[in-house]
Amino acid sequence: MPKAAKKQQEPSGPFGDMFPYRETFEIYRELPKKSRPPEDVMRELRSIAREENSHWQTGQISGTYYHGGMEHYAYLNRVFALFSHVNLLQRDMCPSGTKFEGEIIAMTARMLGAALAREKDPQADVCGAITSGGTESIILPMLAYREKAKAERAITAPEMVVPETIHPAFSKGAHFFGIKLIRVPVGADYLADVDAMRRAIGPNTIAIAGSAANYPHGLIDPIEKLSDLALEAGVGLHVDSCFGGFILPWIAKLGYDVPPFDFRLPGVTSMSCDTHKWGYGLKGASVVLYRNRALRRRMYFAMTDWQGGLYASPTVAGSRSEGISASTWAAMVTLGEEGYLKATRRIMKAAETIKSGVAKIPELKIIGKPTYCIAITSDKVDIFHVNDFLVERGWRVNGLQRPAGFHLCVTLPQTLPGVATRFVRDIAAGVEYARNPPATPARSGAVYGGGASSLDPSMVNELMLAWLDASTEVP
Ligand SMILES: Cc1ncc(COP(=O)(O)O)c(C=O)c1O
Repeated sequence: MPKAAKKQQEPSGPFGDMFPYRETFEIYRELPKKSRPPEDVMRELRSIAREENSHWQTGQISGTYYHGGMEHYAYLNRVFALFSHVNLLQRDMCPSGTKFEGEIIAMTARMLGAALAREKDPQADVCGAITSGGTESIILPMLAYREKAKAERAITAPEMVVPETIHPAFSKGAHFFGIKLIRVPVGADYLADVDAMRRAIGPNTIAIAGSAANYPHGLIDPIEKLSDLALEAGVGLHVDSCFGGFILPWIAKLGYDVPPFDFRLPGVTSMSCDTHKWGYGLKGASVVLYRNRALRRRMYFAMTDWQGGLYASPTVAGSRSEGISASTWAAMVTLGEEGYLKATRRIMKAAETIKSGVAKIPELKIIGKPTYCIAITSDKVDIFHVNDFLVERGWRVNGLQRPAGFHLCVTLPQTLPGVATRFVRDIAAGVEYARNPPATPARSGAVYGGGASSLDPSMVNELMLAWLDASTEVP
């Protein structure tokens, strides 16, 4: 029930106000005694959604909202509504789930070189599963590699070797599954240092991994060399394409130089590829792919002696809504190659405007040679002061560390007229501000998912945990 309307103004997000609605709406600490009319609830929800959409719809953000078209979302939500109540775990009642998921997997595998892999290697039989997101598509292959190594090589202290720029999901998977993650420093070019990774491989190594592209700098690791290394060492290679799998193939098709990073390379044994990013599907879906069925089997779970009957599920979740898979399928077949290419062309045009504009500012340095996600650092000014200025101008970029910087990931909202040129103009003004900033130290920092905080490094871990607590509690 709306309280006296007071506009939510406090910054929300990491270390900002976690509960800006305290003044605006009723806080529920227990179930309301009386039912509320749906229209009343909808009014409240519409008001919240309108408020929160209004920021990203300016395009002055980085990544996160990949499509941004409200008509597209409305269409996917209509599809979602048809199947939202259906439980994919009970497949006998919804064979459509197998159609949607099987076809999403087949289309994604084909996009990532499955057919070409088969031509070169008759053993290649790329298969997969639908997961809840990139993290699950990463941790499940880690489990599969662990189980395979235990069964076939009696490895009880498993290790994985990865470049340090790899996504934290690998550290999470290592934590969950008792795997030692060896994070190898990247080279001066910010890419996986293949020789250093070779030196880190030992008798307990179960797999190695690389990114195409990585989150911090949007760079593609030398996957071809990692593929050779995996074959040489006799271990698996996971390519994390959560952030690139649904856009790099189209960038390549448009004629840009994209090195091979998928199943065309013989050492690639698994991949993660998110439909909820540049697949333009709703949040909550990703594809995990394996080079062959035997490896996929290693992530499955089945139980035969439970009183509740026979139980088997391929991924982490038990019950899942079919709405997510149906709407993801709908996004893919509605866009088709034509739609993905059209969107990618717009993204690359905006990215080129930003890259060439930033390259003209002598105080700034673009990290590596990115495509659509542009990481910026500086050894001339405090880059977080530049970010402070961008925040003042309404931008919300993603902070980076080691080296300090931030990235702007170009998605469709940044292709709106004037957004890319506004970014170049504002960052140039931000550099002017950073040369002689009134505030010291900078308020900005490198919080994942947030752009504005000042942190004492020794307290960061505790603050992060407290933030997780706060994100589940009412004040
Ligand atoms: C390279 C990379 N891998 C994995 C992930 C994790 O994906 P999710 O947040 O869907 O779990 C991300 C997310 O941005 C990513 O950029």
